[in-house]
Amino acid sequence: MSRPLDLRSWLARVDELGELQRVSGAHWDLEIGTISEINYRRKPPAALLFDDIVGYPRGYRVLTGAVSNARRMALTLGLDPALDTAGLVQALRGEPLQWETAAPRFEPEVVTAGPILENVVAGHDVDLTRFPAPRWHEHDGGRYIGTGVAVVTSDPDTGRINVGAYRMMIQENGRSATINAEAGKQGRAQYDRWFARHGKAPVLASFGHDPLLLMVAGTEVPNTISEYAYAGAMIGEKLCVVRGEVTGLPMPAAAEIVVEGWIRPDRVLKEGPFGEWTGYYAGSPRPVPAMEIERLYFRNDPIILGTPPGKPPNDYSYMRALLKSAMIQDELVKIGLRDVRGVWAHEVCGGRLLVVVSITQRFCGHSRQAGYLVAQCPAAAYMNRFVVVVDDDVDPMNLEEVMWAVSTRCEPSEDIEILRKSWGSRVDPLLADPAVPYNTRAVIDACRPFERLATFPRVAQSSPTRVRETVAKWKDLFADPRFPLPESVIPSGAVDEEAHGSGVTAMDKKD
Ligand SMILES: Cc1cc2nc3c(=O)[nH]c(=O)nc-3n(C[C@H](O)[C@H](O)[C@H](O)COP(=O)(O)O)c2cc1C
Repeated sequence: MSRPLDLRSWLARVDELGELQRVSGAHWDLEIGTISEINYRRKPPAALLFDDIVGYPRGYRVLTGAVSNARRMALTLGLDPALDTAGLVQALRGEPLQWETAAPRFEPEVVTAGPILENVVAGHDVDLTRFPAPRWHEHDGGRYIGTGVAVVTSDPDTGRINVGAYRMMIQENGRSATINAEAGKQGRAQYDRWFARHGKAPVLASFGHDPLLLMVAGTEVPNTISEYAYAGAMIGEKLCVVRGEVTGLPMPAAAEIVVEGWIRPDRVLKEGPFGEWTGYYAGSPRPVPAMEIERLYFRNDPIILGTPPGKPPNDYSYMRALLKSAMIQDELVKIGLRDVRGVWAHEVCGGRLLVVVSITQRFCGHSRQAGYLVAQCPAAAYMNRFVVVVDDDVDPMNLEEVMWAVSTRCEPSEDIEILRKSWGSRVDPLLADPAVPYNTRAVIDACRPFERLATFPRVAQSSPTRVRETVAKWKDLFADPRFPLPESVIPSGAVDEEAHGSGVTAMDKKD
């Protein structure tokens, strides 16, 4: 079986769930961006489908907020939409490893026809301003048609296909678009190798597709695996792709808008600044490769998948937090870190800058090992700044609990380790010199000292059993809707009773 990875059937399913709001008459210049930004602050945000965009024909649409809540993430991943964030984390445990293993069986199926071929325009007639690409933020350097974009490149030696989300700004009155892939990204490594061998690199970019493809394009999938195959493994079906007429690179057969052509090391144009996922505008305009577009393909009534970043929560901060957390936890398990209880890459820090890991401590040095590994494992290495390690009685998703542990179990002079010259980014607001994008990161060990586990002061709170029983007995009191009781107050049966009440974590005596 193969599936076309179709944004339209995705939209129909989301609409059926009651998760879609339609917006008519907004302007591409800032209005779509501002409405979307306000939407991300709703709890939960809707998926917004903009139509009748000022200056554009009806049917030329922009979608935002596609994967910014648990229900739509679940639907996109083929999981139960009734799951909440904690349930999704549980459902995703172990999945990234399985997708990785299964990916070779899900290389995409190449077909010769598909909706993306409904309109094909040759290079000299290309005009990207025929699509309602928004100017998202007030100080952006231009109109970004590529935010939820999937940029397709290949390895000149092995032919391995990479799909990465690298933002694309419209250039030269719509004739071209720049591709902004940061140093260290796999797509960039591939096109640099093409430059060295052939002086130019083939490239293709899709601006609208099933958000599942964005999830993989925008996530650090191991560089031995094609993201198309990985996406196939995620849904258990091969994807359908059509080969581009000029470069032969594969595009989703049901993509909405695709450009195909070449980039060259000497064909660069200034792009940016752009409101970034850190919550700041990144840098000043700088030269990046501009595509020499030879073909434009688009469906009738095309839809741009818009995922503008900005101060979190932004369009994809929820998606990133969820996927990163699952991938980091899987990497830790794969390399053999013992007794990892949970990982959460906090949305408020863009799903990268702050990662919290909880463990059941087993030996002296275990908590530091966890911290160092998280700080440098491939899924977290780019632009992490803080790793906090907590004991298993602390919920890594709950910042109040995490900060309580930091302020009561971390002795600053002993328990904060600094790692220097790590993989930073040009988008870092603290970066002094964009030419050397290192960063520094801190591992904050907020676990009770291992040697004092048995004697560390007891936590002054009722035991989980007592809380559960009391809430059950006094259910009318606690069911009063005027004073809602957060679910997190009622501990699940999984919480270790003894650890919670006494400050003692079960130790593995074999160690
Ligand atoms: C919506 C979205 C936009 C992104 N924009 C950029 C970008 O402009 N430049 C960049 O280098 N990475 C960007 N990223 C992050 C990369 O897509 C991510 O690191 C991904 O793993 C890159 O693919 P690669 O690992 O195959 O290089 C973005 C991610 C998302 C989800």
